[in-house]
Amino acid sequence: MSLYKANSENILAASKVIKEGGLVAFPTETVYGLGADGLNPIAVAKVFDVKKRPVFNPLILHISKKEELEKFTIVKNEKVIQLVDKFWPGPLTLVLPKTEIVPEIVTAGNPTVAIRMPNHQVALQLIEASKTPIAAPSANRFGHLSPTEAYHVEKYLGSKIDMILDGGKCSVGVESTIIQFHENEFYLLRPGGLSKEEIEDEIGKIKSGKINQRKPNAPGQLPFHYSPNTKLKFFDKRLLDVNKKIGVLFFKENKFDFPFASIKILSASGNLHEAAANLFLQLHELELENVDLILVEPVEESGLGLAIMDRLRKASHKHAI
Ligand code: TXA
Ligand code: MG
Repeated sequence: MSLYKANSENILAASKVIKEGGLVAFPTETVYGLGADGLNPIAVAKVFDVKKRPVFNPLILHISKKEELEKFTIVKNEKVIQLVDKFWPGPLTLVLPKTEIVPEIVTAGNPTVAIRMPNHQVALQLIEASKTPIAAPSANRFGHLSPTEAYHVEKYLGSKIDMILDGGKCSVGVESTIIQFHENEFYLLRPGGLSKEEIEDEIGKIKSGKINQRKPNAPGQLPFHYSPNTKLKFFDKRLLDVNKKIGVLFFKENKFDFPFASIKILSASGNLHEAAANLFLQLHELELENVDLILVEPVEESGLGLAIMDRLRKASHKHAI
């Protein structure tokens, strides 16, 4: 049994596991992370192994104090400080040039490191008690749905990790927004739990798309990712077939008179924050209900809708090829 309630006693025990080079899954406000001592290359290597994650895909370093930013990254820009002051702790990851002490395996050989301070007491206490930054990807098998409840982690990775701290449902529900500062510009590498609009209100326009580097700034950027095992497509009436068990994920309501096997609603009031918080949770449920096909309704691409559509497109892409 590797699932533990996230109380102070268990957080302390988990910090010992981290210090000893083990793996701990822990809640953040976005999704559950699979954590290892970010300064211990052997511990970090285990993360790649357990997730079956390609080693060219770098990890995010999680810290518990804003001041630690300068220990692990080289900050040369006022706007970076402005973002940290405004949005940390929170669902914003910054990609910046790394300092010497960050191991190569964390950054997959890149000269930059992704870093964030999560807005979750359990995560912050765990990092603090471990006295080291925690390198953590989402706690799922590579390419599969991200976990937003402890049981999601337990079901898919439970037997392979030392401890899972159960802190209940993640409030944001999609991963952090990732932006990179590169040659005086900010680039959006992954839309996520903090909207692009909120970031732009603070620092002005940011660019979308990839930066031409020697190595690709990988995977949330691979065309498929975040996929359930069940076939998933965007809603199209022509796909409705009474001989199939069809599960649907609507934004606000079901407008169709059809015998769906399962109906999920992201947010009855049409709130994109609530929709994001329910996204992976409901996809996990649909997968567990063993339907033949999952149909999802697109949402408007503003605010958190950008992150939701990014995840849904990638989830559907795998099944289009
Ligand atoms: O909300 C989150 O960000 C969650 C929680 C656990 O903090 N973590 C998460 O990690 O989503 P992961 O590993 O699933 O996604 C991290 C993304 C990957 O797409 C990776 O390619 C990108 O961050 N990344 C990491 N370091 C990078 C770097 N130096 N340059 C560009 N992209 C980087
Ligand atoms: Mg992930």
